[in-house]
Amino acid sequence: MEINIIEVKGLSKSFGKRLVVDNVNLTVKEGDIYGFLGQNGSGKTTTIRMLLNLIHPDNGNIKLNTYDLKKNFHKAIEKVGAIVEMPKFYNYLSGRKNLELMANLIPNIKDGKVDEVLEMVGMLNRAKDKVKTYSLGMRQRLGIANALLNDPKLIILDEPTNGLDPQGMKEIRDMIYNLAVKNNITFFISTHLLHEVEQVCNKVAILHQGRILAEGNVADMLNLELEIIDVYTPSPDRMIDIIKDCDYIKSYEKLPKCVRVKMEKGFSAKLNYLLAFNNLEVQYLIPQSQSLESVFIKLTGGMQID
Ligand SMILES: Nc1ncnc2c1ncn2[C@@H]1O[C@H](COP(=O)(O)OP(=O)(O)O)[C@@H](O)[C@H]1O
Ligand SMILES: [Mg+2]
Repeated sequence: MEINIIEVKGLSKSFGKRLVVDNVNLTVKEGDIYGFLGQNGSGKTTTIRMLLNLIHPDNGNIKLNTYDLKKNFHKAIEKVGAIVEMPKFYNYLSGRKNLELMANLIPNIKDGKVDEVLEMVGMLNRAKDKVKTYSLGMRQRLGIANALLNDPKLIILDEPTNGLDPQGMKEIRDMIYNLAVKNNITFFISTHLLHEVEQVCNKVAILHQGRILAEGNVADMLNLELEIIDVYTPSPDRMIDIIKDCDYIKSYEKLPKCVRVKMEKGFSAKLNYLLAFNNLEVQYLIPQSQSLESVFIKLTGGMQID
């Protein structure tokens, strides 16, 4: 049965008079790569700190792996790995030595575990080098290797690609995806980057000024809206004449090279037929995908995000 790995209800937190997390509800299911998307200052880190019991909520309830975090802390946190701030390591020791020190703190850890997790994050070949020689991306991977030591079912990462170059970001995203699929680990990742959510997450919650504006499947959100099709034709004005009274077409726009048509979902074949029926020469019909950005802008009332 599919279980809820994270279940948050009515979570709130103020600092002084400022309400920073406002009645947040979240449901993360086993196997999700869940994006927690919001601008800087929207309350992501504060929420994550509450999920990890580093700070206490004013209100609300948190269950991890079905256990209540307050009542059953050890059980709740047992199978959770996390990186909240940039992981700290001993710079003058090797990556492997750092992990060995951490592994020594875990009772009954099996032999070879350190190499196993180094392999999982693709750091085995650099394991003998001192951490001070590592790039930011490599430190991040070592942090994830550290989080993997106790066989987590859930890994929580606060802005895991922050500060990385595009290549480093892609490597971290690919690694997360592989760990999720191959090792059946659920991920909860905060980010302020929309394309990150589009590229790696199957679920998303959009946080804005401490409130969840939307939560759901990334694929569904991208299809919430109308279908958009760019029609390339040498006779755009005639095309507009043909479609202008069509009831399933919601709007059209003449762009330099094409006519962009917005219509109800599922009507593209009808449009195609209509144009052919009227003998309009059409070079291409190119469906445009709805971006999460436009969903986000709509939800936040025009607020842009990176
Ligand atoms: N310990 C704290 N004391 C006072 N204000 C805080 C504290 N931690 C965070 N805040 C404020 O709460 C808001 C949300 O912060 P944060 O959760 O770090 O957002 P995010 O991680 O989304 O950037 C910010 O305005 C921040 O200044
Ligand atoms: Mg933060």
